[in-house]
Amino acid sequence: MTKRVLVTGGAGFIGSHMAQRLLALGHDVVILDNESTGSVDNVPAGAAYIKGDVREPADLARAFAQPLDAVFHIAGQASTVRSFDDPLADLAINVGGTVNVTQHCLAHGVPRLLFASSMTAYGHPAGLPVDEETACVPVSYYGITKYAAERYVHATGARTDLARPLHVTSFRMFNVYGPRQRLDNPYQGVMGIFIGNVLREEPVNIFGDGEQSRDFVYIDDVVNAWVTAWQSPAAHGQVFNLGIGQGHSVHAVVQTVAAALGHDPAAWPRRYGPERPGDQRHMTADIGHIRRTLGWEPQVSFAEGVARTIAWARSTN
Ligand SMILES: NC(=O)c1ccc[n+]([C@@H]2O[C@H](COP(=O)([O-])OP(=O)(O)OC[C@H]3O[C@@H](n4cnc5c(N)ncnc54)[C@H](O)[C@@H]3O)[C@@H](O)[C@H]2O)c1
Repeated sequence: MTKRVLVTGGAGFIGSHMAQRLLALGHDVVILDNESTGSVDNVPAGAAYIKGDVREPADLARAFAQPLDAVFHIAGQASTVRSFDDPLADLAINVGGTVNVTQHCLAHGVPRLLFASSMTAYGHPAGLPVDEETACVPVSYYGITKYAAERYVHATGARTDLARPLHVTSFRMFNVYGPRQRLDNPYQGVMGIFIGNVLREEPVNIFGDGEQSRDFVYIDDVVNAWVTAWQSPAAHGQVFNLGIGQGHSVHAVVQTVAAALGHDPAAWPRRYGPERPGDQRHMTADIGHIRRTLGWEPQVSFAEGVARTIAWARSTN
């Protein structure tokens, strides 16, 4: 059955893939995006597009003008660095914007809300891989706003005073990568940044010693998880990690990217700078909860995902 879904942030990396899949599944898609880091070029054909801001009730009113079956709330300020440069903007977009979205869901009787949370919620967990039961003590301003927004979403989902409940699900996404990730935005997405650097024959900038590690999850696997969760009552009220359960160091990413683009992996020039505030040392996801609850399994290995991303990057350069 065709459903009508609002995808906030649908002109960005993750949101545009989500919108594309929903359209391919035969649903009607409305996108709301202010193009701060996204681009109208990413908006898939067939989606209704509203240029607007999740902080602005008038813009949300336009996005909620027709009845919606679900909201995929993906719009956000996605950079840890920028959260320290402009904490009030980060707070207004990630927390204020999310509260606005939840309030509009309630006002319009939308039954389902899915939210783009982040592994930065965990801060420096004592043990790895980290599972969803681990206490969240975010150490970056960005992690704080993502976690606060997640709590607003789930506290709203737990309300028993509503005539019509709002069923919510959040995804603590680890490092998502793939086609359409920006190759020219130094604030977001280390995989895209390094691919862009190597394609432009620039040195890579490494903050810290380069041995910090991240769990990279390919965009198609992320989309699979969201779409499966949307359709599954077992996902109501749940928070899921989305990673593949493997850590890759920043050095390893540089080497993989350089080698895949035909260069000597050990020789690619690197510039080192100080660790940045809020940096997490090592992060890997325990994905047992989403495996058990939804049967989700990442399908794309790190090597395959990097190859696909590089093939796309080459085709656009
Ligand atoms: N990429 C990752 O690894 C990752 C990991 C965890 C969580 N997330 C979250 O997923 C979401 C999408 O991230 P992404 O990597 O696709 O980044 P992105 O920057 O490509 O996407 C964010 C989109 O939101 C839009 N946007 C920003 N502020 C807005 C506002 N006030 N009103 C309307 N639209 C606004 C941007 O223009 C952009 O299109 C973000 O909320 C981010 O915090 C991303």
